[in-house]
Amino acid sequence: MRAVQYDTYGEPDVLHVVDAPTPTLKPNEVLVAVQFAAVNPFDNKLRSGAMAGMVKVTFPVTPGSEIAGRVAALGSEVQGSAVGDEVFGWATGAYAEFAVALATGVAPRPDALPAEVAAALPVAGEAALRGLRLLELRAGETLLIHGAAGAVGSIAVQLAVARGITVIGTASERDAEAVRELGAHPVRYGDGVFERVRELAPDGVDAVLDIAGAGDLPGSIELAGGTERVVTLADSAATSLGVTFSSGGRKDQTPDVLRQLADAVVDGSLVIAPARHLPLADAAEAQALVAAGGRRGKVLLDL
Ligand SMILES: NC(=O)c1ccc[n+]([C@@H]2O[C@H](COP(=O)([O-])OP(=O)(O)OC[C@H]3O[C@@H](n4cnc5c(N)ncnc54)[C@H](OP(=O)(O)O)[C@@H]3O)[C@@H](O)[C@H]2O)c1
Repeated sequence: MRAVQYDTYGEPDVLHVVDAPTPTLKPNEVLVAVQFAAVNPFDNKLRSGAMAGMVKVTFPVTPGSEIAGRVAALGSEVQGSAVGDEVFGWATGAYAEFAVALATGVAPRPDALPAEVAAALPVAGEAALRGLRLLELRAGETLLIHGAAGAVGSIAVQLAVARGITVIGTASERDAEAVRELGAHPVRYGDGVFERVRELAPDGVDAVLDIAGAGDLPGSIELAGGTERVVTLADSAATSLGVTFSSGGRKDQTPDVLRQLADAVVDGSLVIAPARHLPLADAAEAQALVAAGGRRGKVLLDL
């Protein structure tokens, strides 16, 4: 099968297309013929070697962790799925014609959910749901989200607003209007961000969800009146500051989460920004685009 791999850490140009063996399955896994694989910031962090101290990899690495596609084969113990089912979810080695997923890591894709939208939901949607859950938000509270225009942030804003939470969202000047359309009060990120937030929330905020990882935790702690209700998904300074860093894991990757996200898109309460599409062979360009920022919507590889 065609797959994108890298044999060493480095810049995006270490990615290249290979003819790789089709993966074999463990009893609880399914093989998915990939239609779309999303490119995530994590893929860049792993490929660059920035996470070498935290995540052990075996070269060659086939990147990618979320897909939409069709079930192509079932592990010996998998029940409730059939070859040919249209699914979406978390997978390993997603930048390839075939990727492996836990049977519990994918869910049926409803007809009303386009595959290209489904492929953009698992990683960002689960992270947004988890971040909000950890903060134990109640209707009427005020939440500050750093990185409100990004893939995770856009979902977190919409889910929080739907629960009756007032959201202040940091974003670039360019994305301010988009953040307002999602239902949040936009504030421009960068120097002076906390003064601008204070103009909207003079008494501070109830909670902060940091998805930008841009060094804003100390100011966030001050604004929230302590570390208790500050959660980051992206800032490694969290531990030294006493803030919760949530990275999630397999236990969080459930069909229930996928169904909840799919339902929200289908009923119109969750809107996902259109993705940029590139062919598999342009995976290096796709990762470079994600690293560069300055865009809305995910970057997808089309198989
Ligand atoms: N821990 C977890 O479970 C988990 C799960 C998913 C993602 N993540 C992490 O969360 C981060 C965001 O992921 P994503 O998929 O949402 O990425 P994304 O779509 O690229 O969004 C990142 C957003 O942050 C904005 N941003 C940049 N600098 C900022 C600043 N100083 N203040 C506020 N916003 C700023 C970017 O704006 P510009 O376009 O203007 O640069 C962009 O809109 C990544 O670090 C990713 O690895 C963690």
